[in-house]
Amino acid sequence: MQEVLCFSASEQARDEVGQGVKQHYGMMHYHMGWANANLQPQTMPSGKRLRPIFCLLACEAVGGNPGDALPAAAAIEILHNFSLVHDDIEDGDETRHHRTTVWKLWGVPLAINSGDAMFALAFAALSRLQRRGISPNQILQAIDIFTKTCIELTEGQHLDMRFEQRNDVQPDDYFHMIKGKTASLLGCATAIGALVGHGSSAQVKAMQHFGQSVGLAFQIQDDILGIWGDPDVTGKPTGNDVLRQKKSLPLLHALNHQRIGPKLTTLLAGGISENQLPRVLELLAEAQSREVAQEQQLFHKAAAMKALEESLGKDAQESALAALADSLTNRKA
Ligand code: IPE
Ligand code: IPE
Ligand code: MG
Ligand code: MG
Repeated sequence: MQEVLCFSASEQARDEVGQGVKQHYGMMHYHMGWANANLQPQTMPSGKRLRPIFCLLACEAVGGNPGDALPAAAAIEILHNFSLVHDDIEDGDETRHHRTTVWKLWGVPLAINSGDAMFALAFAALSRLQRRGISPNQILQAIDIFTKTCIELTEGQHLDMRFEQRNDVQPDDYFHMIKGKTASLLGCATAIGALVGHGSSAQVKAMQHFGQSVGLAFQIQDDILGIWGDPDVTGKPTGNDVLRQKKSLPLLHALNHQRIGPKLTTLLAGGISENQLPRVLELLAEAQSREVAQEQQLFHKAAAMKALEESLGKDAQESALAALADSLTNRKA
């Protein structure tokens, strides 16, 4: 039936298929920053590509050839970007990388489908580790880490959305949520990098802890930027996290604050509008929630350094991984 339809399709219909397929991939190129909104090739503002850099550096740090880890690094960045396309739908965010988000330009159904394609493409990229001479056993281990990460990521995203409706979220719940939505993928990046670089299993494990701890600190900074960041620098709006009552660490801290908590709960009850944001900021300042979040960030950064030392020994302090992790504290974008 399919063949009959294909053979009888008119020139016009085939052109329509061609245009559609072009748009499908064009939307992904747009998201990645390789095409403009008319889907013409153009270099646009894009992501920081942190996760693939962590992956390649982890491979090198354990004595491997970073080129061998390239398929995994690509897979991780594609997976990350799948999660961003879907995350912008889930969070109702209209701007990322200083540009209109995919769902806002082409609608939610097509954006979901683009994200789905990127999810599958990430696995296709990962399987190219074969071409780098990586053993089937190592590839299976990499697929195992990668697949677990996908599952944890969706678990974290589920909790993140569920917590919007709840005012009884505790710090432990928060850390479970960000471990899933963010830390897992950074841990996956460093673990697979070390695995492909032929690190010992103890090194791979410690490297995964390093990436996860960096991820926790990274998400806390994202939470801070979501409230106090400069949209001209981050390329993402501020205020939406509070408007949606995301249980980011500063808001969560203030809600659980003995004196400020009840006031904030009353203010947020039934939803808030933009003109109430300054009052929320006042309450966060009174509770010193930003400072508390920064302390937590430093705690996880220290845990990251400890894990890196477990993986690399005395070379850890001077490594590029340590420098990169350090540069992420107080990042502005
Ligand atoms: C954004 O991550 C999503 C989070 C996990 C906080 P990044 O800030 O690394 O996003 P890009 O890759 O630079 O766009
Ligand atoms: C980060 O989500 C995690 C994923 C995208 C999976 P956020 O919603 O906190 O990140 P931003 O702030 O939109 O980049
Ligand atoms: Mg978001
Ligand atoms: Mg989100």
